[in-house]
Amino acid sequence: MNEVKTPILEMQGITKRFPGVLANDHVDLELYPGEVLALLGENGAGKSTLMNVLVGLYRPDEGEIYVRGKRAEIHSPKDAAALGIGMVHQNFMLVKTMTVAENIILGMSDLPFVPSMETVGKRITEISKRYNLQVDPNAYIWQLSVGEQQRVEILKLVYRGAEILILDEPTAVLTPQESHELAGVLKVMTDEGKSAIFITHKMEEVMEFSDWVRVLQHGKLVAVRRTQDTSPQELARLMVGREVLFRLDKAACTPTETILELQDVHADDDKGLPALRGLSLTIHGGEIVGIAGVAGNGQRQLSEVVTGLRRVTGGQVFIRRKDMTNQNPLSVIKAGVSHIPADRIGMGAVGNMAVSENLVMKGYREAPIVINGVLRPNRILEFAHKMIEMFRIATPTPQTRIKFLSGGNIQKAILAREIDACDGLLVAVYPSRGLDVGATESVRRMLLAQREEGMGVLLISEDLEELLTIADRIAVMFEGQIMGVVASDDADVETLGLMMAGVKREDLAVEIEDAVSTSTASS
Ligand SMILES: Nc1ncnc2c1ncn2[C@@H]1O[C@H](COP(=O)(O)OP(=O)(O)OP(=O)(O)O)[C@@H](O)[C@H]1O
Ligand SMILES: [Mg+2]
Repeated sequence: MNEVKTPILEMQGITKRFPGVLANDHVDLELYPGEVLALLGENGAGKSTLMNVLVGLYRPDEGEIYVRGKRAEIHSPKDAAALGIGMVHQNFMLVKTMTVAENIILGMSDLPFVPSMETVGKRITEISKRYNLQVDPNAYIWQLSVGEQQRVEILKLVYRGAEILILDEPTAVLTPQESHELAGVLKVMTDEGKSAIFITHKMEEVMEFSDWVRVLQHGKLVAVRRTQDTSPQELARLMVGREVLFRLDKAACTPTETILELQDVHADDDKGLPALRGLSLTIHGGEIVGIAGVAGNGQRQLSEVVTGLRRVTGGQVFIRRKDMTNQNPLSVIKAGVSHIPADRIGMGAVGNMAVSENLVMKGYREAPIVINGVLRPNRILEFAHKMIEMFRIATPTPQTRIKFLSGGNIQKAILAREIDACDGLLVAVYPSRGLDVGATESVRRMLLAQREEGMGVLLISEDLEELLTIADRIAVMFEGQIMGVVASDDADVETLGLMMAGVKREDLAVEIEDAVSTSTASS
């Protein structure tokens, strides 16, 4: 490998300022044909901004872009597309009420004639096959899982002839299995000479997917490495600027009273199909119970049933032994339940409100925020300052509208609010999704701190490492039922994997201490 390649893309000295923020500070980037570049950095480091500059959504204040050696003026995504550059955004941009095929040709104004949907469908099937991106061209977007929607986004770019693909945290919403498949798709593309820029917070993926790594810190390029010459530890250190411990110290679990009890719960999903099918589960104060499982096996409905957002069609929900079956969300909040939802941008935050207002949204009924029925703006600010500092939320001011924060920092704000408001049970759905390594570490610490304060935590996660590190017991969900519960000290990835695939725990030929009976005996 001594041949000298010329880059297909060069960004030189890119600078982008927002009010109060230097998002990109003279950043250089090179991308070679047939290679994958991983772009890393903490939440708010400027990764999405740099890519938005590349596809013409933002105009840089300084700097130049060269594509195939020629100076490029990119004023819009259309200009970018004409140069073969396409991006899959952190939040998808598909039209839900249209079909896959319609979404793919939507806005393609340079078509010589209006193609028949049949021709389009054929072409889509052809590309699907070549890249192993299976989707039905006639399906409506709303019928597809997040993973399938992402395939559509990628198909759309390839259909339009993209040679340079930008994927902004594509795996944050994928199951480990789907991430693996995506790695395969990228491999086929790079073998054909296409290139990709790949943003992720997961170090294993950097090692698996990429050829080169560039690290941003506070808007500046701080390191360039060949993937084969670096390690997850070094990359984490380069991003955060300090050594990151991938280990957490955890005190022994001392479960107290029963906080949550689900008895034979049944519930339907949005399409009216059974999602929970006779689920029973108990959580005590002072313990973290993890829910493992491939996404789409009823985890979301479970969290919604517990937080009062979805009605049960059978069974009962008790919170601190009080029957809370089909109570409204406000009563559930009053019973001491906090919720970190999976869809944080949609459900967790109000984009046009200030960071500070988003932070107090839950505590606003109480002193010291409200005294004698009057809102205290100073108290709100004081509280916001405290939260911003504690959770290291990167925002120019507490008054900044939350939609201007980076994806990860919006998440941190919601986490801060919910963890702070928790008084009994914390329902955390994929809490570290989209967070950088440092923030992930702090979130895990905070969940452990809640546990030490005697709260019960229901932790839904796809990350088995995360569950094994911080959960006390792990319940595996499959098709709306619990396949078994194991003490995490006795659990291993293989056993959990088998249960996630639908093997009942009692059918496993492994001897594991009966975590279920010991813990229910203590309650
Ligand atoms: N439209 C905007 N208006 C004002 N500030 C913005 C805007 N977009 C981004 N910023 C700011 O620019 C900085 C970089 O944000 P960016 O979204 O590029 O970060 P990121 O590296 O993608 O982070 P994450 O990992 O959280 O997605 C942040 O401080 C953010 O608040
Ligand atoms: Mg981003």
